Amino acid sequence: MNSPQLGDKKAWTPLIAEGQIVITAHGFVGVRAMPSKGGRADLTFNQFSDTLNYMVNKSGGD
Ligand code: HEM
Repeated sequence: MNSPQLGDKKAWTPLIAEGQIVITAHGFVGVRAMPSKGGRADLTFNQFSDTLNYMVNKSGGD
């Protein structure tokens, strides 16, 4: 479904450029084909945010 894969720097570069707050908020509430929190309704905000940071750090961001 065109989701950005872990480590795919080409896919993540434009997302990272949107900024941490924006992409965290979008993923938390859901964006286009991505369900809220990736479909894991039981995740806390901090769990989701930590996961996104992990993915960004493995995909060219810091
Ligand atoms: C906690 C784990 C996850 C994180 C941190 C995460 C994060 C993201 C981010 C940052 C985007 C880019 C959104 C944008 O374009 O602004 C995205 C897109 C997407 N994600 Fe996830 N995701 C996660 C899990 C999942 C899961 C499990 C699914 C499938 C059920 C999924 C499906 C998608 C899809 C389909 C897109 C593309 C949306 C579109 O452009 O139409 N994600 N994700």
